[in-house]
Amino acid sequence: MVYVSRKEHFNAAHKLYNPAWSPEKNKEVFGPCANENWHGHNFDLIVTVKGTPDPDTGFVIDLKKLSTLMRLEVTDKLDHKNLNLDVPFMKDKLASCENLVIEIWKILAPNISTISKYGVLHSIRLFETPRNYVEYFGE
Ligand code: NI
Repeated sequence: MVYVSRKEHFNAAHKLYNPAWSPEKNKEVFGPCANENWHGHNFDLIVTVKGTPDPDTGFVIDLKKLSTLMRLEVTDKLDHKNLNLDVPFMKDKLASCENLVIEIWKILAPNISTISKYGVLHSIRLFETPRNYVEYFGE
C-alpha cells in the first residue's frame, strides 16, 4: 500500500461562535477566536490517497488530477471566503477545523474514484496554523 499526498493552500476568515450561548460564554470558551468581527488564517489542506500503483502508469493517483479536484471542489470554494457566511457546505455548522475536515471528506471521498481506479481516500489533514492541525480518516 502506497500513500500519496497533495497539499493545496487557501486563506479564509471565520469565528468560533455558538449562537446558543451568551456572548460572555462564547468569549470564555473560544477566547479571541470568538471575536465578533472575524479573524483569518492561512490554511494548508493535505489530502492523502492510498492504494497500489496502476501497472500502466506506476501511479496510485495522478497528482495533477488530484490537485484539480481539490481546487475545483474544495479550495476554490473556501479561498478568500468567510467560513461562517460564504460557504454553503458549512452552513449552520460551527466553523471549526474539525467540522471543516468532515465536510471536505464528504465532498472528496466519492470523487477520488472518478479520477483513480487504484486509490481511495485515506486522510484529510488541515493546518490552521503551522502548529495546529486536525486530521480525519473518515470515521
Ligand atoms: Ni481561527
